[in-house]
Amino acid sequence: MTWRATVLTLFPEMFPGPLGVSLAGRALASGLWGLEARDIRDSATDRHRSVDDTPAGGGPGMVLRADVLAAAIDAVDAAADRPRLVMSPRGRPLTQSRVAELAAGPGPLIVCGRFEGIDQRVIDARGLEEVSIGDYVLSGGEIAAMALIDACVRLLPGVMGKLESSTDESFSAGLLEYPQYTRPQTFEGRPIPEVLLSGDHGKVAAWRLGEAEALTEARRPDLWAARPAQTIRAKGESQ
Ligand code: ADE
Repeated sequence: MTWRATVLTLFPEMFPGPLGVSLAGRALASGLWGLEARDIRDSATDRHRSVDDTPAGGGPGMVLRADVLAAAIDAVDAAADRPRLVMSPRGRPLTQSRVAELAAGPGPLIVCGRFEGIDQRVIDARGLEEVSIGDYVLSGGEIAAMALIDACVRLLPGVMGKLESSTDESFSAGLLEYPQYTRPQTFEGRPIPEVLLSGDHGKVAAWRLGEAEALTEARRPDLWAARPAQTIRAKGESQ
């Protein structure tokens, strides 16, 4: 079965959007993965096709109705057998390991929130996993869903060429990626680090590991503290 993302949204016209170009877009066009964007409004039952209402208890904004969203979820093929996510700034932060799990499965059903939120009862009743892509607030879940889908798609078999290997990149060893250089050899007076031109693969690997460790320690103390045991080395040790 082809990996497939099903997105439930009030703005299906936003898809495929950026997922239709470049690496993900080429893979979509060649059938390596599938994308289905469904309009939540198609599951509305009243004359006005309304999907939202005022929050119980008062307050600003509108809340997505539980009955309408539940009907939209239940109308999706095999919804019960797929991961069911809802994009929300209040969700668990998305990680590369969760992305890898999602990429290894059948593909998720993703609910995109809008308004002030979604009626909690549909989150509970359909077991939706709340997922955040970072500590900032987007105007809706669509761009967050695209980020999640893009991160999964590049891991699917056949999507990345041999040359675009994903094994050496940020997070694969719990470290940020080392800096890269290419021609020209000197740019605005800045030379490429000499070790990279030495042809000594062992020295290059050691230099890259040291750079990755220094970057991670400086920028991401959370990752640095949690890095896997095999990457923990004494300072100055080369291999
Ligand atoms: N919707 C709005 N902001 C979001 C975020 N940071 N992550 C996921 N979904 C969101």
